Amino acid sequence: VSVSSLRATPEPLRTALVTGASGYVGAMSVAALLAEGAPRVVIPVRARHTREQVLHTLRLELAAEGLGELDLEARVCVVPWSALEDGSVRAALGPEPFDLVHCAGSVSYFATEELEQANIALTEQLLAFARAAGAARFVYMSTAFACGYVDTPAPEALLDEPEGDPTHYTRSKRRAERLVAASGLPYLILRPSVLIGDSRDGRYAGKRYGLYQLWMGSEKYLTKKYFPVCHAVAPKARVVFVHQDAYKRAFIAALRRLNDGSVMHIVSQSGSTPTMREAQEMWFERTMRPQEVHYYPHVDDVPAYKLDARQRALLALASVNLQIASRHWSFAAPTLAALESEGLAFPHVTLDSLRVCQERFVRSSERLRDYHATYAHLMPAKSRGIDVVPAAVAEAAHV
Ligand SMILES: NC(=O)c1ccc[n+]([C@@H]2O[C@H](COP(=O)([O-])OP(=O)(O)OC[C@H]3O[C@@H](n4cnc5c(N)ncnc54)[C@H](OP(=O)(O)O)[C@@H]3O)[C@@H](O)[C@H]2O)c1
Repeated sequence: VSVSSLRATPEPLRTALVTGASGYVGAMSVAALLAEGAPRVVIPVRARHTREQVLHTLRLELAAEGLGELDLEARVCVVPWSALEDGSVRAALGPEPFDLVHCAGSVSYFATEELEQANIALTEQLLAFARAAGAARFVYMSTAFACGYVDTPAPEALLDEPEGDPTHYTRSKRRAERLVAASGLPYLILRPSVLIGDSRDGRYAGKRYGLYQLWMGSEKYLTKKYFPVCHAVAPKARVVFVHQDAYKRAFIAALRRLNDGSVMHIVSQSGSTPTMREAQEMWFERTMRPQEVHYYPHVDDVPAYKLDARQRALLALASVNLQIASRHWSFAAPTLAALESEGLAFPHVTLDSLRVCQERFVRSSERLRDYHATYAHLMPAKSRGIDVVPAAVAEAAHV
């Protein structure tokens, strides 16, 4: 994608119908739309959510951005999902053209029925609604991992079937993308990698995904006693996270500048992106600080049978994500590069910005505070890091 294939004049933001706004990515997307001047946002939610809850989350996020007076009462309309069927959503959207931004979805990796319902059936339902209601554009929130396991950089195009998938989730997102592209509607497909906290203050309102799963798992399993030796899966592959503020900026830039039918990776992969090994080392230094940390390139390299039950439990909890992190993922991101060359400020993940997120997490953890108070006297000034070479690799090198 060259700069010339972006829209020369940015489009104004339209009113939007945003699904999934009771969740993390949807809420971030709505906050960005409101901050950047979308006239109105209509949000369908399931019965367990109230309007006040949804507005509260948005107010917190906007206040953290220093934005207080955005007239949410008038600009945000929260409706039940049934409003999509009885015509009241159309009324809430008003007569102006609108974008349908579809962020609702399941990220339950292997729950096939739930994935079918939330990622396939729901997308079909929303495409039908968008067609009937005359949506100006359908914006689908996919994932960078929709490409599955491939050997070449994932293209910003519809994806072929890969040699394999890390989860059923990635397969379902790839299928949903195809439904969107075949719908006949003008569309954008956005593919963020894994969102982490804001690059400036580390705030994070999402669930236990990515690094947060590891951090919360360590907090849960490794703080009951001091482990002189810890074991960690820490491939020397670069992490593929994206800061939530970077996501919001890229999302808005995509709505304003991309032509219909575009696919865009929203990923952080600059030369200064740290490796998982560096991220893990920074974590152990700041938190458990054992005498030694044994670092393994892959989950399968860890001698799980030798581990204490708690370290094994942590490994089991994070095992799928660690397997995914052990691969060298590569996503072609020419659109993001073109937008950056046109002035988009996109804070890529660096070791320092990751430290900001980690610090926010550590400081808000009572367990980690107690752990430090109890075990500081056992901690060395610096843990010794040992890179464990898997037996097979060592043998091959020997031969
Ligand atoms: N988080 C990330 O780093 C990331 C990265 C790339 C892509 N994504 C994509 O972004 C989307 C949202 O992820 P998230 O992290 O925001 O997850 P989340 O916090 O769990 O939010 C999921 C949202 O989808 C809604 N939803 C799920 N199933 C639904 C159904 N059957 N009917 C109606 N609404 C349903 C949820 O509603 P309830 O609140 O009622 O459950 C919630 O609003 C997913 O499609 C995911 O693929 C996320």
